[in-house]
Amino acid sequence: MGDAHYGFTAGDSIVITGAGSGIGRATALQAARQGLSVGVWDLNPAGVDETIQAIIALGGTAHGEVADVSDAAAVHAAMERTARALGPISFLHNNAGPPSTAQLDFGDAVRICVGSVQSVTEAWVPYAPQSGAAMVVTASVAGNLVGTANAWYSASKAGLMGYVRHLAAHRAGEFRSNGVAPGMTNTPRLAGFATSEMGERILERIPLHRMGEADDIAAATLFLLSPAASYINGVFLPVDGGWTVTQ
Ligand SMILES: NC(=O)c1ccc[n+]([C@@H]2O[C@H](COP(=O)([O-])OP(=O)(O)OC[C@H]3O[C@@H](n4cnc5c(N)ncnc54)[C@H](O)[C@@H]3O)[C@@H](O)[C@H]2O)c1
Repeated sequence: MGDAHYGFTAGDSIVITGAGSGIGRATALQAARQGLSVGVWDLNPAGVDETIQAIIALGGTAHGEVADVSDAAAVHAAMERTARALGPISFLHNNAGPPSTAQLDFGDAVRICVGSVQSVTEAWVPYAPQSGAAMVVTASVAGNLVGTANAWYSASKAGLMGYVRHLAAHRAGEFRSNGVAPGMTNTPRLAGFATSEMGERILERIPLHRMGEADDIAAATLFLLSPAASYINGVFLPVDGGWTVTQ
């Protein structure tokens, strides 16, 4: 995939949560190729390290944080260290979240998924520049357009879009907010899915007849964050190969 020209200013910074794998890593590498300095956040130290090494190999700049986004104190400390390392942070990709198959208590899951995005966003705001700042959350077609077996996943992903609409309506003086909504996306957590019986059934119904790649979601995320999207605020953007229009 060639890199698009989104109008980013080289040297501006972005924080990406869950950047040690999948969609977050793809966004981190595309951001580095766009000239952004990248705050690479993840629970998994090996994932942080691998993403940073890949950014360095591209000639980019990165700062890593091993942080659990559901721990508000850890988030505030990580944001402060990231800003000290990279300067003002223009962009935020709230991407980390547990897999939809995790067996979690409903209340705990909503706190982890939605509460973490609220605390990372509030921790980021003091370090965002006065103009041009933007945030994108990785929502999902699940919850917003289709229901999943796990109650907490649908509820949390729909809740995230409610939070985005609040931010878009009431905080646009500080930053723009949008949501990207992956469909079935080929990341480690869905390894083997395409060849499973359910995977084959779903792929049959996706008009583009393939899973999304992490780079497909990353490209949409960076577009929504970028100056090219400066009048886009509060949208929910499915990146699902047209799957949900066939439902
Ligand atoms: N893969 C899909 O089909 C799909 C579809 C819709 C939405 N999504 C969403 O995309 C996002 C990224 O998923 P992915 O498919 O790239 O998965 P992934 O498992 O490849 O990557 C997720 C990363 O997030 C990290 N992470 C998880 N919880 C964390 C926490 N509390 N604090 C910090 N880091 C944490 C993990 O360590 C991992 O490195 C998730 O929010 C997921 O719900 C994925």
